[in-house]
Amino acid sequence: MVDLSACPLDTLTADEHVAFFAWIEGMTVDGDREDGPAFAGWLREHAAIPGDVTWVFYSQGSGALAGTASLIRRDRSLLAPADGWVLGGVNVVAAVRGQGVGAAIMRWIDSELRQRARKQGRPVRVLLQADNPVAVRLYERLGYHSVDGIPGVYTAVYALDAK
Ligand SMILES: CC(C)(COP(=O)(O)OP(=O)(O)OC[C@H]1O[C@@H](n2cnc3c(N)ncnc32)[C@H](O)[C@@H]1OP(=O)(O)O)[C@@H](O)C(=O)NCCC(=O)NCCS
Repeated sequence: MVDLSACPLDTLTADEHVAFFAWIEGMTVDGDREDGPAFAGWLREHAAIPGDVTWVFYSQGSGALAGTASLIRRDRSLLAPADGWVLGGVNVVAAVRGQGVGAAIMRWIDSELRQRARKQGRPVRVLLQADNPVAVRLYERLGYHSVDGIPGVYTAVYALDAK
């Protein structure tokens, strides 16, 4: 089982911030399904939006940067449902893909959303966009299903105690 620490982007030290954005800026569409500079711009844009949060995940064992994920109100044309969120920007450092980091990030996001549902006293609905079959399988295992009529968009509802 992979153990991760989750740090909100705005709590990183200056050095961690530089290392995180160096990883992001270096991404390529072929290797990471992201254009690095565009993804960096997307992250900076969401960092300025109240309520939107990006987490940076580190391996608890080595402290190495492992991945990232964001809960935001709007991802381009995809708008979160009322009182819900869009999950975006899920990415794992290429060198550690296929080792359970993505699943660990999703377990962490899962518990964060259950906590939000408990705090607000009603279920939280989440939307995401995905076209990477590995990612889609990962999301489906956690209870996401495709939204009828909107190709590539998936949803899950986090109830107060069970999904
Ligand atoms: C999609 C992504 C986040 C998954 O993270 P990961 O750390 O590689 O995933 P995990 O190691 O936790 O594996 C999750 C599942 O996918 C499978 N898997 C992982 N890499 C795979 C690969 N290259 N081919 C086939 N299956 C793979 C694993 O076996 C596991 O399935 P299992 O639980 O049935 O064994 C990661 O590959 C990534 O960052 N990809 C590029 C960016 C991206 O596509 N992000 C998603 C945007 S929607």
